[in-house]
Amino acid sequence: MAGRYPFPASPNGWFGVSASDDLAAGDVRAIHYLGRDLVLFRGEDGSARVFDAHCPHLGANLGVGGRVCGDGIACPFHGWRFDGTGSLVEVPGLDRPPRAGATAWDVCERNGRIFVWHHADTAPPSFDVIDYRPDESEWTGWRSNTYEVRVHVQDLTENIIDRSHFSTVHDMMPPEGQQFEVRFSGASMIVDQRLSVTAVSEVGFEVDTTTTTCGPGIVAVEVSQDPIDMLTYITQTPINDELTEVTLCFSMKRLEDEAATESISELNDRVTNLQFTQDVPIWENKVYRERPIVTKIDGPVAQYRRWFRQFYSNGAERVGT
Ligand code: FES
Ligand SMILES: [Fe+2]
Repeated sequence: MAGRYPFPASPNGWFGVSASDDLAAGDVRAIHYLGRDLVLFRGEDGSARVFDAHCPHLGANLGVGGRVCGDGIACPFHGWRFDGTGSLVEVPGLDRPPRAGATAWDVCERNGRIFVWHHADTAPPSFDVIDYRPDESEWTGWRSNTYEVRVHVQDLTENIIDRSHFSTVHDMMPPEGQQFEVRFSGASMIVDQRLSVTAVSEVGFEVDTTTTTCGPGIVAVEVSQDPIDMLTYITQTPINDELTEVTLCFSMKRLEDEAATESISELNDRVTNLQFTQDVPIWENKVYRERPIVTKIDGPVAQYRRWFRQFYSNGAERVGT
């Protein structure tokens, strides 16, 4: 974000790198996130793994022609073989391999997505990825849409508490006696609000939503409006200094009426993606104001930014100070 933001492009936390369904056992993919070349693969044991892409030998990219071997992966260049922890276990033609290894990242697979833990100082994970839909079979499969946006993840989640943009950008009217509560708890910010969505019908359709972030890379929006339970699950992963990949996933608890389930899913998918794309031109062209003028009708911007600082390693905590 050279010059655009006064903090690093990649905060510390869990970041989504793939849908679970897109990676079968034996699959190998070269991926680029968090400013790094990485290799993502699923071992024969069924576990997803992420290593730094370039082989410690002569630097081949393990993601381009690498082959899954047991839990680990073999390099396409000279066949060095690494186990599931990244340790070098075999060098073809050599009795005993030198002590070496590929750097393995912490990986967590949950909610139909694969996450890696990123920490600027390589500290181990300090929080878990929150689990949703424990009774998965009662929910519809994920519908997902992916975008690349020129914005920092901190600006993306600041949007959640920026209540004064809802009516101008999103055509949403706060209902009478509106509820808007923001709580900060560890790695989570939790926002409870009642919203009237005028994009759905002219009179507005009122919904109670709970939005829960899980570190800087995950946002879950739950709508519970008897008999409807819906979950919009968003992963936001820095690609490099400029771009962030955002994936919006949607799932709802199946209603008895299959056609109704389908049409509500479709409508929600359309509204969510419309609302997201409404924000994009603002995000891509804004600057970051370290000392914004905040009024009482805005959300708790300063509080949010103070809370977000926990995701930067020491030395990077310059926001608003
Ligand atoms: S570069 Fe990977 S084995 Fe030689
Ligand atoms: Fe928005």
